[in-house]
Amino acid sequence: MRLIRRFVGLLATVIVALFPLLLVASSIALVNGSPAPSAPTLRQLAAGLGIHVGSAVDYTALTSDAQYAQILGQQFSAITPENEMKWVSVEAQQGVYTFDQADAEVQFAQQHHQLVRGLNLVWFQQLPTWLTGGTFTKAQLAAILQQHIATEAGHFRGEIWQWDVVNEPFNEDGTLRNTLWLNALGPDYIADALRWTREADPNAKLFLNDYNIEGIGPKSDAMYALVKGLLAQHVPIDGVGFETHLDLQFDVPPQIEENLQRFAALGLDVDITEMDVRMPLPATSEQLAAQASVYSQLMQDCIAVPRCVDFTVWEYTDQYSWVPNAFAGEGAADIYDDNLAPKPAYDALIQALQKPVAPQVHGP
Ligand code: XIL
Repeated sequence: MRLIRRFVGLLATVIVALFPLLLVASSIALVNGSPAPSAPTLRQLAAGLGIHVGSAVDYTALTSDAQYAQILGQQFSAITPENEMKWVSVEAQQGVYTFDQADAEVQFAQQHHQLVRGLNLVWFQQLPTWLTGGTFTKAQLAAILQQHIATEAGHFRGEIWQWDVVNEPFNEDGTLRNTLWLNALGPDYIADALRWTREADPNAKLFLNDYNIEGIGPKSDAMYALVKGLLAQHVPIDGVGFETHLDLQFDVPPQIEENLQRFAALGLDVDITEMDVRMPLPATSEQLAAQASVYSQLMQDCIAVPRCVDFTVWEYTDQYSWVPNAFAGEGAADIYDDNLAPKPAYDALIQALQKPVAPQVHGP
């Protein structure tokens, strides 16, 4: 095993070393503001390091915008359905499941040799009103949750690389968020959800996912304590997702690499799962350059930590970004612009992947 890894490592080093030559040979001339067809893609470069580069996928865009779909297939080796696997999308009516849109996204991924991150099974948002407005006993709610997980994770059994089983369980101060689930079921809802997901799909990697846990601080300390406790109790968990929704108006969180490393040292995968870097609009060229260096830094952090096996952006294009709807006056958060042309942030990711400072062989 070790020999194989060493061979893979050597191969990766040779491939990475050869890319600059390939680049020179093919020239990186831009065609209509897009990389030349022969230029290496994000997914090709990242594959040499054992990292998947992913994007959230918007169902409407995927099915109505051919250029969007083409770039998604070419540049990315993983996708995350942006909304189509959430509770309100799949079980809007109690016990009636609709998987059509998510199935279409999974099919797209399979056709393009991409892996799928499933998002998500347990969250406090995007829940159907029958659930949030209903009156249930503790036992009923536990049964509803178990049934939902068994049905959804069962439906996608074998097709999901990583499930975000519980999404955003923490408050900023590191206490558990007061959700429907915590209120009714107590903190054990997290361990139960992980166990039920493992039963439904034994091969999917199981994740907890949250935002503002990228650097070291009270919220990431709380996540660290939680996963350490779960591991000690032999609860199935394989990784932690660091959403990485950043804003140029604030400092980049401190000690990201050290933070990823301490989770990895527990034997967990540590992935960047929803990265974007928003800014007040209109974007200036200085802001776009600053944004590019933030993307580059995060990619370098991922490259430096062998258990960082996925780097997903929360939509690759500003055209379909959630940011303008969620943060008034802000946007331009993604690596392609509104016209599907790559931004400086895209070039920065390519460069970070081409010239990794501390290349590591990635994987468990
Ligand atoms: C967002 C989607 O991008 C939006 O389209 C939707 O309206 C709200 O949810 N953290 C998460 C994601 O885990 O599920 C959120 O996605 C963004 C923040």
